[in-house]
Amino acid sequence: MRFITWATSPWGQSVPIHIAWGLIWVAVIAGLFFMIVHSLYLIVVKPPKRFAERKVEACEGIPERVPRHSLAARLFHWIMAASMFTLLFTAFLPKVGIQFNWVLYHWLAGCVLTVSILYHVVHASFFLDFWSIWPDKTDLRDAMNRVRRFFGKEARSPSKFAKYPLENKLYHGAIMLTGLAVIVTGLFMMKRVQTGIFTRNPYLFSDMTWGLMYVLHGLAGVGLIALVMVHVYMGIRPEKLPITKSMIFGWMSRDVYLEEHDTGRWAVKAPATKAKEGYAAGDGD
Ligand code: HEM
Ligand code: HEM
Repeated sequence: MRFITWATSPWGQSVPIHIAWGLIWVAVIAGLFFMIVHSLYLIVVKPPKRFAERKVEACEGIPERVPRHSLAARLFHWIMAASMFTLLFTAFLPKVGIQFNWVLYHWLAGCVLTVSILYHVVHASFFLDFWSIWPDKTDLRDAMNRVRRFFGKEARSPSKFAKYPLENKLYHGAIMLTGLAVIVTGLFMMKRVQTGIFTRNPYLFSDMTWGLMYVLHGLAGVGLIALVMVHVYMGIRPEKLPITKSMIFGWMSRDVYLEEHDTGRWAVKAPATKAKEGYAAGDGD
């Protein structure tokens, strides 16, 4: 299969115009393949619980409801998710035979995504723990140890997670790169269509540059199909529901926190007046 569709410009030059739409199905199949292999792995191999030990003394000062995502962070996530779904459906439904006037809804959703991401960058840089979503040394050491243990070699057992497991951090990195690619190219591509915001100028770039821009936009776009499919699948898996609940209500239970997270790597402090109360309620722990 050819990955790019080419055309001949008025000057006889062969230029790329967009990706081959067959890549949509490659991305859908890749997403489904991941879900099937992952589900089978959990059913057939039945991997043991990752973290067996429990730090009893660590309960002190930890509230029963551990705050995980602030209201502002949750609103951002769901606005971004809604714009991302709109972008995916408006972009790809017409390519698989469902025709409608998609361009207007597409770039409008693109503007919502752009504004939400700008907001998120400022919010995460100045108001959240910026480094919590980037892999650190412990993540890399634990990943190496997990691989060694998978191949039956001697290795230290991995530490519990910080706020985000390595997988989430890698996912965030992939979404960041593909998201930035569609946003930067998409903003330029708005110059090609009638938006009413600024004057249309299809001669801003050469045919070759426009073509490559459309190809990059399309490649990142189909990549997002697979990324979003895998992410939603993870979000609705039964064992992940406590985390999904935290993206709706903002908190996770103390039990889940203590079972999965290292209280040193992701320290949670109870509000001063609630600390005692939370500790008392957790006597059974
Ligand atoms: C999930 C994210 C996105 C996906 C999957 C996506 C996908 C696509 C696809 C497949 C096309 C058709 C390209 C072609 O005909 O070769 C397209 C066109 C376009 N997209 Fe996006 N896009 C996304 C985000 C954005 C964003 C963030 C913006 C604006 C900020 C944007 C603005 C545009 C514009 C203006 C066009 C051109 C329409 C035309 O030339 O008729 N897109 N997009
Ligand atoms: C029904 C749809 C969705 C569900 C159920 C869902 C669920 C979640 C949950 C539960 C988290 C928090 C993970 C944690 O606290 O460890 C999260 C984080 C995140 N979501 Fe979504 N999400 C959805 C749609 C989307 C979409 C469409 C995007 C954009 C492509 C997206 C991008 C992200 C990113 C970048 C993070 C932060 C990184 C991470 O924690 O993995 N989500 N999502």
